[in-house]
Formats: sequence, structure tokens, C-alpha cells
Amino acid sequence: MYNCHVLIVQTTSFSDIIHLEMASELPNLVTSLPGPKAKALIDRDAQFISPSYTRSYPLVVSSGEGAIIKDVDGNRFLDCSAGIAVVATGHCHPRVVEAIQRQAARLIHMSGTDFYYENMVELAEKLSALTPGGVPRKVYFGNSGTEAIEAAIKLARYHTGRKQFVAFYGSFHGRTMGSLALTGSRNTQRKNFFPLMPGVHHVPYADCYRCPYGKTVDSCAVECAQAIEDPLFRTVLPPEEVAAIVVEPVQGEGGYLVPPKKFFDELRRIADRYGILLIFDEVQCGMGRTGKMFASEHFAAVPDIVALAKGIASGMPLSATVARAEIMDWKPGAHASTFGGNPVAVAASLATIELLEQGLIDNAAMIGAHMKARLSEFPQRFTNVGDVRGLGLMIGIELVKDQSSKERAPELRDRVVELCFERGLLVLGAGVNTIRLSPPLVLTREQADWAVDTIGQCIAAAAA
Ligand SMILES: Cc1ncc(COP(=O)(O)O)c(C=O)c1O
Repeated sequence: MYNCHVLIVQTTSFSDIIHLEMASELPNLVTSLPGPKAKALIDRDAQFISPSYTRSYPLVVSSGEGAIIKDVDGNRFLDCSAGIAVVATGHCHPRVVEAIQRQAARLIHMSGTDFYYENMVELAEKLSALTPGGVPRKVYFGNSGTEAIEAAIKLARYHTGRKQFVAFYGSFHGRTMGSLALTGSRNTQRKNFFPLMPGVHHVPYADCYRCPYGKTVDSCAVECAQAIEDPLFRTVLPPEEVAAIVVEPVQGEGGYLVPPKKFFDELRRIADRYGILLIFDEVQCGMGRTGKMFASEHFAAVPDIVALAKGIASGMPLSATVARAEIMDWKPGAHASTFGGNPVAVAASLATIELLEQGLIDNAAMIGAHMKARLSEFPQRFTNVGDVRGLGLMIGIELVKDQSSKERAPELRDRVVELCFERGLLVLGAGVNTIRLSPPLVLTREQADWAVDTIGQCIAAAAA
């Protein structure tokens, strides 16, 4: 059962929020991996499913509860991936399940683009109140992260009448033609797909472990952000033609990079100086994951437009593009999606936000701080750990061949991820050589400690 000492607020409903009735179990493996049923399913998958997916290891999921995943052979895993940072409230949180079931029994679809839904308005009101800045906001609903970004791109073009964008190396914004043009993560994602949306210019992100300007966080003048003005604007890109700067407040796929506050101050200064919109992609880092509802709150940074998805509805497909009300000035017919704002997904989102506000954001901050404090000892314990960084339950462990040269160790990272799986811990990679931890926000201290211990053992085993 859950350890009660992990709870920060002992309210009568807190056990319900962390769903204490769900076992706070640890992994238990009963077959070799993959087990026989998993193997059979993987063979069928190979015949009929698109080979474009990247599966890191052979996990065939059967059910989930809290931070625990069971596979088809009865093996139990601790999930520190949360379905790629999606199931914020844990797998199948009873309150989310109940909200989905109640709504599904009443109405599944009518199309919020042509008719009106009460809960869609309720969620839009909630999101506008939550978005930093204290200004009136309007919301466009879609079904995925890439749709939230496409809507942001189109809105920025529509509102400003400009066509150029600035994005960052290492960023991931999605895989449709507009968002893919912004994505600067790996070239396999773009190979054979050109031409993408024209007019995107990439600049270095604030990667303070590998500062391209050779600075440290304390000594730097955020040269990476300044590079937008000079050389980019000075030499090749007239700023008055730039619609928006698109940035992840914590870079996700790029390796869980956390910029300093001054990076965002500088982006805001540049945006305001040239009438450029600032679009925050909080698809991965938003919805409580970092220990605040929005990651940008850590930097007191306010977006003009923010893209949300992943954790917004605990696994139901939903995204939101939230813009300052005066920016969302497009006319009827300009943009829409048949499924966007689906009432069942919206019901899941309202239940999710309630749970986040009632304790899960605090739990993410507390358990995340505990994990990071323990993981921060890793660079002293393991010569292959170059950097540990993150906010809340969004933590990256960067593996290197050598701490002084910082040469990346992608094979070692992949091996550690595999070894973790073989011991019952589900983690994923991010960037070239980083292990990403993005567990459900219901993770307990006991589970967090087990995960940290297991990762340490796997690093030691892989390095040996
Ligand atoms: C920051 C960020 N933006 C956008 C996306 C795209 O989201 P989706 O896969 O739902 O289209 C992702 C997905 O990983 C992401 O991490």
C-alpha cells in the first residue's frame, strides 16, 4: 500500500487523489522478456502495423493502474514513462474513468465545431483562467500535440500577416508538415519528406550543459537567445516578417533541457521589440509535470499562445491552443477539426485538472525534488553520468563516455534503457544520449526510490 508519509497534505480527499486504494506496487516479473504471449503479438504487429514506430523494447501492454503497467504475460512494471508523459493522473485513475464513463453514456460526439457543448466551454474557461498572464484568453481544441502546434502556426500567420518563424535546434513540435518544419530534433524525422512548410529558421536552444558559446549559466548573457537578433535578424531574416518564436519551456525530446530564466526574459524582449508572438509548446512539459501547472511559471514567462496536449486529459486524445483573446481573431471557417473538443476527452480533462489542482502538482514537485536530489549524486558515483537536470517529475540523466570530454554515449544510454526494462522499470530515451524520467504524477516515494536504485544498478551494469 501507499506510504502515508509521502503525502504532503493530509486532507480527507487526498487518498482519493493519489488513489490510495490502488496498490502502490513494485515490479514483479514472472516470465522472461518478452514472454510467450508478448512474442506472439509482436509477430502479428510486424505484419500489419506501420514500421515507422520506434519501439525501444518489447513491452506488450495489457492493463495499467496508477504507476503500474501489466503486460500480456502477467509481468508487472513500474512506469516512469507515463505513455510518453501523457497519463498525468496515473493509469486509469478512478475519477477519470468515472468521468469518461458518465460522459460516454450520455453523448460521445456531435462536433463542437458546428454545435455547442457545455463542457467544452467549461474547459476553455478553466484553461484561460489557468494560463499565466492574467489576460483574457480563447481556446481552440484539437486532438494531438501536432494539431495544437498547427493551430498555433496558422493563428500566428493569420493574426500577424507574417510568414516566418524562429524555432530551436533540438526541439520537437510534431510530425505534420507545419509542426515538422519547426521540429529540429533528428533528421530521420524529416528525411524524404521535403519540402516542409517554408519560412522556419532554427537557432541554438539554451543547452547549459553543452553551451555552444562556452559559457556557464552564471556567466552567460544568454548568447543563444541574443543570436536571434544578431546574427539571424541582422543578416538573413527581417524581423518584421517574423510571425512567432516557437519554444518549449523545457525541451523534451531534445534531452530534457531546462533553460535559465534570463533566456525567457530575452525572448520576451526580442518578441516585444519586433511585434513577434511568443508561442510556448507545453505539450510535454505542461499540465503539472514540472511541479507547476505550466512549466513557464518557473520562469515567470508569459506566452502569447500556448500549445497543450499529452497530460491534458490523462490519455484521452485532446489538445488545446490557448491564445490571448485579441490574437484569436480568425473568422468562422478559418480553422476547425471534426473531433476537436470531443466531450468524452473534455470530461477526462476536467477530471484531470481537478486532480492536478487537488494534490498531484504538489506531489510532482515533492517526489520530483526527492528523485532529483538522489539522482544528482550520480555524477559522483558513475563516471558515465554527465548531467542530471529537470523540474518536478520531468528529469533527464545525460550519459557520456567521459565527464570531461562530454562525448555522448548513445549506445550506453540505449543499453541502460533495455536493462531497466529487463528489471521491470519502464523508461525512455530523449535526445541522443539522455534517459528521460516522466512518470505519472501519482508516483510514490517508495516507487521513486526503487526507480532511482534500479537506474543506478543498470548504469553500473551497462558500464561494466
Ligand atoms: C513538446 C512536444 N510538442 C509536440 C508534440 C507532438 O505531439 P503529438 O505526438 O501528440 O502530435 C510532442 C510529442 O512528443 C512534444 O513532446
